[in-house]
Amino acid sequence: MNADTASPAASMDRIYRYQRYFYDATRKYFLLGRDRLLTDLDVPEGGTILEIGCGTGRNLIHAAKRYPAAKLFGLDVSRVMLETAERSVARAGLADRITLREADATHFDAEQLFSISHFDRVFISYAISMIPVWRDVLPRAADAIAPRGAILIVDFGQQEDLPAAFRSVLFAWLSRFHVTPRADLEAELCKVATASELDLAFTRLYRGYANYAVLRRP
Ligand SMILES: C[S@@+](CC[C@H](N)C(=O)[O-])C[C@H]1O[C@@H](n2cnc3c(N)ncnc32)[C@H](O)[C@@H]1O
Repeated sequence: MNADTASPAASMDRIYRYQRYFYDATRKYFLLGRDRLLTDLDVPEGGTILEIGCGTGRNLIHAAKRYPAAKLFGLDVSRVMLETAERSVARAGLADRITLREADATHFDAEQLFSISHFDRVFISYAISMIPVWRDVLPRAADAIAPRGAILIVDFGQQEDLPAAFRSVLFAWLSRFHVTPRADLEAELCKVATASELDLAFTRLYRGYANYAVLRRP
């Protein structure tokens, strides 16, 4: 079975089985916009945060330090990534504030996983581009935000304002890791915003390297 025909969990476990050991050290150079997203979370005092596709837990650990009164939750389909996340969270002394669960972003039940159904902030960082049926994730995220809550998303863009050669090399390299920048992310988010009555702000960062979106419940 190859990564295309395997289940999402088996596919991600296969990709990350060894990469997880150097993931945080290498990804900081090209998963751009993650720290801006953590700053923009602007979590209310004592609020709750959910990361969908939390990987090694790097973002949750940074968020926990930035928002010391917040309670944090993360889900990921990959057991091996979660094992790394659990170790990192424990090492950071944050196991009492960060709860991690194995689940598929396309059909998770937050109440069943975390005994919480709505969160003040939900964020998705560089996971949309790895989920083949990524459109199914967006309504799940919209359902999971509390009144006055927000969803923040950062992921690879179409590299519009970067040299064409850079774009083709980057896209070819990303495809080796089953990463597909979503050309119609903005259009899809517009539909979700309309259906769920959310305000959408969509921007392109770093000359189109990354897409950045905030959906807010008014
Ligand atoms: C590129 S990593 C990003 C990790 C983290 N969000 C970050 O910014 O460093 C993508 C993550 O999405 C997870 N993922 C992929 N498909 C998923 C799915 N269907 N449900 C939940 N997580 C998924 C992968 O296992 C991986 O941990």
